[in-house]
Amino acid sequence: MHDTLLLFGATGDLSQRYLFPSLVHLWRDRLLPATLRIVAVGRQEHSDEEFRAWLRERMAAEVADDPGIVEDLLARMHYVSVDLRDEAAIAAALSAYADRPSVSYLATPPDLFVPCAKGLKAAGLLEGESRLVLEKPIGRDLASAREINAALRACLDESRIFRIDHYLGKAAVQNLLALRFGNTLLEAVWQHRWIESVDIFVGETAGVDGREGYYAGYGALRDMVQNHMLQLLALIAMEPPSALDADSIRDEKRKVLRALRPVTTADAAQRTVRGRYGAGVVEGRAVKGFVHESPVETFVAVETFIDNWRWAGVPFRLVTGKRLAERATEVVVSFRPTSHWLFERPRRGRERPNRLRMRLQPDETIELGLMGSLAAPEWGALELKPMSLDLSMSGSPQRRIAYERLIVDALRGNQTLFVRDDEVEAAWQWIDSIEHAWSETAQPALEYPAGSWGPAEAERFLPPTNGGTHSNRTGGGAA
Ligand code: BG6
Repeated sequence: MHDTLLLFGATGDLSQRYLFPSLVHLWRDRLLPATLRIVAVGRQEHSDEEFRAWLRERMAAEVADDPGIVEDLLARMHYVSVDLRDEAAIAAALSAYADRPSVSYLATPPDLFVPCAKGLKAAGLLEGESRLVLEKPIGRDLASAREINAALRACLDESRIFRIDHYLGKAAVQNLLALRFGNTLLEAVWQHRWIESVDIFVGETAGVDGREGYYAGYGALRDMVQNHMLQLLALIAMEPPSALDADSIRDEKRKVLRALRPVTTADAAQRTVRGRYGAGVVEGRAVKGFVHESPVETFVAVETFIDNWRWAGVPFRLVTGKRLAERATEVVVSFRPTSHWLFERPRRGRERPNRLRMRLQPDETIELGLMGSLAAPEWGALELKPMSLDLSMSGSPQRRIAYERLIVDALRGNQTLFVRDDEVEAAWQWIDSIEHAWSETAQPALEYPAGSWGPAEAERFLPPTNGGTHSNRTGGGAA
């Protein structure tokens, strides 16, 4: 396990919210090497002591009962201030750390990836077994992603480049693989003959506050669909890999991404909805709308198909939005109705199809919805009721921030939960088809009140709820 971590963007939002807390938890649980050293790299001027004081304040709550843990970790940290656009300055500031293999983590905007990588290369920090970790997004379209990937490959081999998609670090996402490939039961029916549709929904109550600048250049399609949602889709739809090593899994994910049916100018209006939140009430609090001159969307609904043998004709509906009524991430696989309904009740056509509902957030649950009749009727027709089989792991180990798993994997050199260059490019190719269709047809982002379920036009894309259909949903709405 490598023991030198260089963290670029150390004073940024991601580092504060996720990366440092993850490091604190991992240190507490002795999951990091005892010889660990962390080099925090940022643009702001700080001495080591100032940086430690700044971080101490922010991390105190992470292990409130044992402040010694944070102190111990802080003692292993140095702060280096450098202009991240200046390759020569990066090389000069960091070459002292090239004495042993390291992991450099770029928690920075994508326009800094290439200058940082070149600076690291010049410092000798990408040699031998050293690794580079990159946050999403890799570019903002296929052309820019290709450029970044090519420039990175000129600095180090793909086998040492770790592209983060933090959804892959979530325990429930890994459980998806266990469920699919650890059971004959599901794999046998995992195809178009038995599955009617697949819904992938990521709803957030948070807005874009504090990240307007980044968000205005990207929007929900590039921020969420290109990466997190397509990774979920790829894991659900891929063929069984021949082994669980990184490339066997990534080969299969890439094939799925390449088989996604592009959105065209002719079908964009039926297959997609763009939205943007206005003022409203979220979780009982009045919030402002997203106001920015950039026309980007904060909500996307897309229906797509995977044009291959397994998934022919099965709609995959992807929906994500900010400032929705509820924070929830779920995947719902709806099976086809029985071919012949024998029972009187519920009346034919009203029976609920079997559904596998995997909830990733805020709670992690897996439920299989079945029909059954537990009580034998004394007379009259056999009455069926929807029942659900709870497949959630009980007594599951402590919940971890997704980044904890990914940091350990990067230090160990395990690429399975990281995204390969060709996957990123295949995903952008499909996203570009949507961006192109939207711009050609001037598809507007329809305003929805914060705290609702998105624009009314997107209702048919929303996943079925436990109660039946989306119309049973409750939730806030207009101010
Ligand atoms: C990030 C996006 O990648 O994922 C954010 O940039 C989004 O806009 C976040 O809020 C969602 O992550 P999670 O783990 O809270 O679902």
